[in-house]
Amino acid sequence: MMKWPNHGGQPETIKKLFHIEGDKALLDFSANLNPFGPPSWLQEALQEHYKTITRYPEPTYSKSSASVAAHEGIDQDKVLLTNGGAEAIFLVAKFFEKGKALIAHPTFLEYERACHHYHIDVEDILVGHESGFTLPVELIRQKFFEKDVMFLCRPNNPTGTVIAEEDLKLLLEVGGKTGTYVVVDEAFVDFLPTSIPTLTPWLSSYPNLILLRSLTKMYTIPGLRIGFIMAHPTIINVLKNEQIPWSINSLVDALIPRLLEDRSFVNKTRVWLHEESRNVFKRLTSLGFYFSPSQVNFYLLRDKEQPQRTGELYSFLLEHGILTRHTHNFKGLNGDFLRIAIRSNFENEQLLAVLQKWRNES
Ligand SMILES: Cc1ncc(COP(=O)(O)O)c(C=O)c1O
Repeated sequence: MMKWPNHGGQPETIKKLFHIEGDKALLDFSANLNPFGPPSWLQEALQEHYKTITRYPEPTYSKSSASVAAHEGIDQDKVLLTNGGAEAIFLVAKFFEKGKALIAHPTFLEYERACHHYHIDVEDILVGHESGFTLPVELIRQKFFEKDVMFLCRPNNPTGTVIAEEDLKLLLEVGGKTGTYVVVDEAFVDFLPTSIPTLTPWLSSYPNLILLRSLTKMYTIPGLRIGFIMAHPTIINVLKNEQIPWSINSLVDALIPRLLEDRSFVNKTRVWLHEESRNVFKRLTSLGFYFSPSQVNFYLLRDKEQPQRTGELYSFLLEHGILTRHTHNFKGLNGDFLRIAIRSNFENEQLLAVLQKWRNES
């Protein structure tokens, strides 16, 4: 049986798995990072702050936490910096250790892994493509009375879809009565059109809301590790005590305010994504491909006319130098779709040309 890698962005592993020889690089559509990043000023800024690595970071990260709080328009006691979104997920899972959780699939794998790690009993809710990946809110709310927490991803990885505000409000209100927390991972929130804002302002109305963030995807800095949690101060205090000391390194501590200030980088990305995704989706429609109703920089794809041939489509794209993300380890997808990133116009055109070839030959 094929040993698929757990995450995207591993072209060398895939080359080995598929016995692809030679040095030619694959076009990587498997990782959902911003093709514009990192911001051009970052390399010099890393050098500028080089000296900070000779000191321990200030343990409360007061300056960088204050910059996150100001950026989000909330008090600093509602913010906890983390070593990427991954640490945020595991810290929050620890808060619910040995409890009961709900996870709506298909979604990011790490919620389940973190729950298992902390002996949390998990019930899965499967959401299908037939409904446009819309949450079955009625079914979920009925389960809330026996759950401590529900993990949601908004916008969701791997579908790119966004849970409707009214559905989320309903769950938070029911959760307020049943003592159920709702964790919403907003790792891709900066890619959304401005008409779909972050849930940060909701924190003041819903003490059972916990928000997770990551700067990884927007700024293309998976190696730096920057994330944060936003929640009621009582939760933040507990999580702070659980966190290992100096989890955030001093370079990152110094750079967070500057990254957050660079709104022009985020805005430029949003404008590009809006244009580019419109073009890609129009072309996919005319080529007869299904794509998930994504609002961000990746989508699920399969051939509408031959939905059972996704495995062959994956190999066909790979033979033509294009790496996509398999979906064998996303619950409910079973490899039936490919997750594909929106890349630069030049790269997207190459992908579309290969899909056209697939259509001509199939
Ligand atoms: C939905 C989601 N949340 C969190 C993360 C973790 O990001 P980080 O690199 O900040 O740990 C990812 C990474 O793939 C993700 O897709």
